[in-house]
Amino acid sequence: MGSFFILGGNKINGEISIGGAKNAALPILAACILIDGEKTIKNVPNISDVRVAVDILRDLGLKVLHEKNTVTISGKISKNTISKKYSEKMRSSITFLGAILGKLGEGECYFPGGCPLGERPIELHKKGFLELGFEVIEETEKLICKNKNDNKSRIGANIFLDFPSVGATQNIILASVYAKGSTIITNAAKEPEIVDMVNFLNACGARIKGAGTDEVIIEGVAENSLKGCEYIVMPDRIIAGTYMAAAAITNGSLILKDVYPYDVYPIKEKFINMGIAVTINKNSIAINAEKPIRKVKIRTGTHPGFPTDMQAQTMALLTQAEGTSEIEENIFEARDKHVKELIKMGANITSMLNGRHFIIKGKANLKGTKVLAEDLRGGASLVIAALAAEGKTEIKGIEHIERGYENIVGDLNKVGANIRFIN
Ligand code: EPZ
Repeated sequence: MGSFFILGGNKINGEISIGGAKNAALPILAACILIDGEKTIKNVPNISDVRVAVDILRDLGLKVLHEKNTVTISGKISKNTISKKYSEKMRSSITFLGAILGKLGEGECYFPGGCPLGERPIELHKKGFLELGFEVIEETEKLICKNKNDNKSRIGANIFLDFPSVGATQNIILASVYAKGSTIITNAAKEPEIVDMVNFLNACGARIKGAGTDEVIIEGVAENSLKGCEYIVMPDRIIAGTYMAAAAITNGSLILKDVYPYDVYPIKEKFINMGIAVTINKNSIAINAEKPIRKVKIRTGTHPGFPTDMQAQTMALLTQAEGTSEIEENIFEARDKHVKELIKMGANITSMLNGRHFIIKGKANLKGTKVLAEDLRGGASLVIAALAAEGKTEIKGIEHIERGYENIVGDLNKVGANIRFIN
């Protein structure tokens, strides 16, 4: 478990190289179930969620070599059920079910875990599986998908998502790669992590078009025809945004290298509105926050809207803005566990509309104290606030932060922060 101890007041100045994206690496590792031969996935973040994904692949019977940021997978799966002890550890465990269905034509998964951001239903995933021809049975703790025809279900279908769910879009793509005929997903999620997973699948021989738009077309290819390749995972746009907020709250400056600038545009636009200088270069972003932070209104939305995964971190930053800012959380119904902890540090935040609308009055005088991280991005927001707080902050629950940040302590200390990890 352990805690972070952060002494606030230091300016962040320097350069950080951004590692691979958790939310691209996880579906790409799941996609490996579909593909024969050796797959070498590089730039994989060495985080606890990836270690769970490796455990799932091994539990399914695959041979997996995991060396820090490279995962090499070979062999074939020998079972079609994702064990409860793994399913409940993260949301993206359900994406492994989509890959199992795509490969074997039937499978089971205990309901997924993940950050407590609200109900997090899976009816859109079930709808996708049903429309691809599976019999979907929901038991108390798990989802069972049986094949109903000689094509082991997987019949191409036109599937409309009434909400552009990232996970459901990924799952339908994975389950339909070997379908008979084409599958069209209308109102698909457009997040860059979906594009990365599709780029990997196409590099192995899949025929998928439209990833990154709201209509994705998956042309079913011959069963087991996908062959392994080497693939480099995209950089993590949310880690980039997190570090931008960390530098900005200390009125510092930072160069982020190895990042895809286009992916960070929604964050860049809002940071510029806050009076932060953001310069985009070919594969790096420079920010300079010497001027006072200006108040803004943030509405989270599906891509290319402002990412919900940056809501908590931006809220911490806006406690230091001059004037009153607003944040509307439009994706999750309970992404507010960080609010009470920021208030403990002296932030002036009013929560409205059942924790979906927040009024942040700046500039608050934050003071170090003991706080608790209860989810991944909420934990990151407490790190950001602690950098600007007077005195020392102790953050407990850092196992949540370690699910998505490989080296937040080392990265930030390298550019001027004073963070200690005590086990
Ligand atoms: C992915 O979660 C990400 N996780 C999340 O990142 C991210 O916040 C989210 O997409 C939105 O961008 C991974 O990729 C592992 P959704 P996912 O399905 O797939 C509702 C992080 O911090 N919904 O787009 O679960 C759902 O309840 C994590 O890295 C349904 O109603 O996101 C939520 O309100 C947190 N029915 C909204 O859609 C469904 O069947 C967004 O969910 C599915 C989802």
